[in-house]
Amino acid sequence: MFPDRIVSSPVLLRTFLTSDAPRVRMLAGDARVAEPTGVVPHPYGDHVAEGWIASHEHTRTTGAEFVYAITRHEDGVLVGAIALRPMANEHENLGYWVGHPYWGHGYATAAAQALVALAFSWLDCNVLTASHLARNAASGRVMEKCGFSVIRRGTRPHRGALEDYVVCGITAEAWQQWIEHGAAGDRRDATASSPASRS
Ligand SMILES: CC(C)(COP(=O)(O)OP(=O)(O)OC[C@H]1O[C@@H](n2cnc3c(N)ncnc32)[C@H](O)[C@@H]1OP(=O)(O)O)[C@@H](O)C(=O)NCCC(=O)NCCS
Repeated sequence: MFPDRIVSSPVLLRTFLTSDAPRVRMLAGDARVAEPTGVVPHPYGDHVAEGWIASHEHTRTTGAEFVYAITRHEDGVLVGAIALRPMANEHENLGYWVGHPYWGHGYATAAAQALVALAFSWLDCNVLTASHLARNAASGRVMEKCGFSVIRRGTRPHRGALEDYVVCGITAEAWQQWIEHGAAGDRRDATASSPASRS
């Protein structure tokens, strides 16, 4: 139901191939990439990438999760991964990582913006949320550039320690307004139509 390929310049999102596994292991095996996430294992075992990629077809068919490789549109180089979970679990709706050599080029933002647009356009989805460690300012900025507002802050276990985290989100209505008003990149006022005010 979701497209296999999505162009969102400067990236092209596509489904993962088994042959991507060594590169996934190399990029996600970097502690700087894995550590801030709630889901990427660290250390990254030998066959983790193969198993992870093999699981995508099932999660995609059941509609539980749509996982895409983030590739550079200009040359197809795999730079990261992004997942949309239409039914949020403890990890919320959106998760992503980009390999360390590729940070700061707008790749995560372009990928996240594409999946947010897809979710609101294709799914019966009223609100999307995502969370990041409070110290993960880059991820917070990605969410901000998707129009997300801060919904709540808290503390939760993270790799054996308690960490401050931030949950951000956007309603379909707020997203519509956000794209119509030029998606300036500023974090919107969360009071008018925030996910929190709807729950
Ligand atoms: C978070 C992550 C996905 C961002 O990927 P990316 O492709 O570099 O992101 P983008 O280039 O699209 O945007 C990053 C933004 O954060 C900003 N940023 C980076 N480091 C920052 C910092 N320490 N403080 C504030 N802003 C920061 C960048 O300047 C950029 O904003 P700008 O476009 O306004 O200048 C990447 O750093 C990553 O994979 N980190 C490890 C995994 C992770 O944290 N995943 C998310 C878990 S919630």
